[in-house]
Amino acid sequence: MLPTSLRKKRAPAAELYLRFMARRYLVFAVVGIALLSLAGRVYWQHDRPELATTEADKPLPSPPVVLTPLPPLYESYHEAELRLPQHQWEQSRPREDEKFLYVAGHSRTCGWGNAMQELLLNAYMAYKSGRSFVFSNYTWNPDGSKYSDYNGKKIPSLIPYSVMIAGPIVGDQFPAGDYTPLAVQRDYFEAMCPNKVIFIREDISEIITFKNSAKEITDGWHDKLAGVEDPCVQTAINSGQIYNFDVFGDPRAMLDIWPELSASPILTHFRWSPLIELAFDTNREFFITPSSAEPSTSHQPHATNAERYTAIPGLMAIHVRRGDFEAHCRFLGSVSADYAAFNALPGLPDRFTPPRSGDPEADAEIHRTHCYPSVPEIVRRVREVRRTAAGRDLRRLHIMTNGDRAYIAELRTALGRDQEWKMITSSRDLALNWEQKYVAQAVDMLVGQRAQVLIGNGVRMP
Ligand SMILES: *[C@@H]1O[C@H](CO)[C@@H](O)[C@H](O)[C@H]1NC(C)=O
Repeated sequence: MLPTSLRKKRAPAAELYLRFMARRYLVFAVVGIALLSLAGRVYWQHDRPELATTEADKPLPSPPVVLTPLPPLYESYHEAELRLPQHQWEQSRPREDEKFLYVAGHSRTCGWGNAMQELLLNAYMAYKSGRSFVFSNYTWNPDGSKYSDYNGKKIPSLIPYSVMIAGPIVGDQFPAGDYTPLAVQRDYFEAMCPNKVIFIREDISEIITFKNSAKEITDGWHDKLAGVEDPCVQTAINSGQIYNFDVFGDPRAMLDIWPELSASPILTHFRWSPLIELAFDTNREFFITPSSAEPSTSHQPHATNAERYTAIPGLMAIHVRRGDFEAHCRFLGSVSADYAAFNALPGLPDRFTPPRSGDPEADAEIHRTHCYPSVPEIVRRVREVRRTAAGRDLRRLHIMTNGDRAYIAELRTALGRDQEWKMITSSRDLALNWEQKYVAQAVDMLVGQRAQVLIGNGVRMP
């Protein structure tokens, strides 16, 4: 009863309003179109005087092409890499003390996270074998092009690693007393080594019992290379990655190598590049209380990772990957993917055993909460963590994300409503210069590394 009578009563008013609106819009639309066509004519006639005299029904010329700036190619970084002092370009073959190892089948066409974890292990393998690590470019596309298309956006096909990182992996000094030969750039290796001894991945498989163990793989190569005198060694390009997706997706893969890897200069002297540190410093008031006496990162004298990138009290970072990850998480759920190797280290507070209840739908739903959580699920998790001892006195929150602005606004509002924060920032708030824009993920990683608490995404990312 009530609804009908209400509708009856309200109908005329609403209709009137709508009609009024409609008429108003109609008027607007007509005036708008008239103005636009007028403006168009004036513009074209002004721009193309020769058209002014011709008939209006002639086809209009296509609008001028507005060139968007192309992504940076970072040539100066490549040139600086070639000028490293350990490169003795005047010689035509390796010195007696030079011994190289190049992993030619390194990953391509995969994200920075995948490339970086592989790079760390390849560099460590060379280090442990006492050889110069041969570093190349971060390679999105190996087809020789300068630019590639990524979801309709142009990106550089190759990025020299020194754009993102510094330290022994890209040829900087090892700590005093460590005489491992310094890393060299691939071009130098190619110049010194026209002939190479080439191994394939399977050459060491007989010494390995647990094929995903990063330690067994590293020790296997160490043993294999111990008897090799030739300075020029590389792994075959077509035998692929030495440490591959199976390794990085296996929660046990990193367990036995972690103590030695984390104590090696590959990690203890790992650094972010000056470009990335500069991006952090530029945006530091998002992360650090402005009055704090904390010196800017790029002015730190410290070479070690632990001293240089100290934890920032009060800062929490969360990694919220969106976009392509929705479909990807469905796939990962369907194969009950574990937490990835580096996310399953002992000492990390979060553990996860993918559910295998026999009900695929229920299992997939639990898995999704780890891989592609909803806004309320993220809010709840952040609240839980703030109630732990580790989450005490958090005041600033940084959302590392590829989500769009509407999504970020929704998440930020929900987080701000639930807990008190001095500031909530996201990847899209950072002020980045043109060179930093294309390596912004490394800036986020540095922020995440320095946070008092980081909530990442533990599920593997092949
Ligand atoms: C690495 O990238 C630079 C451009 O940034 C390019 O000049 C160089 O040839 C690349 N090297 C290899 C081995 O692809």
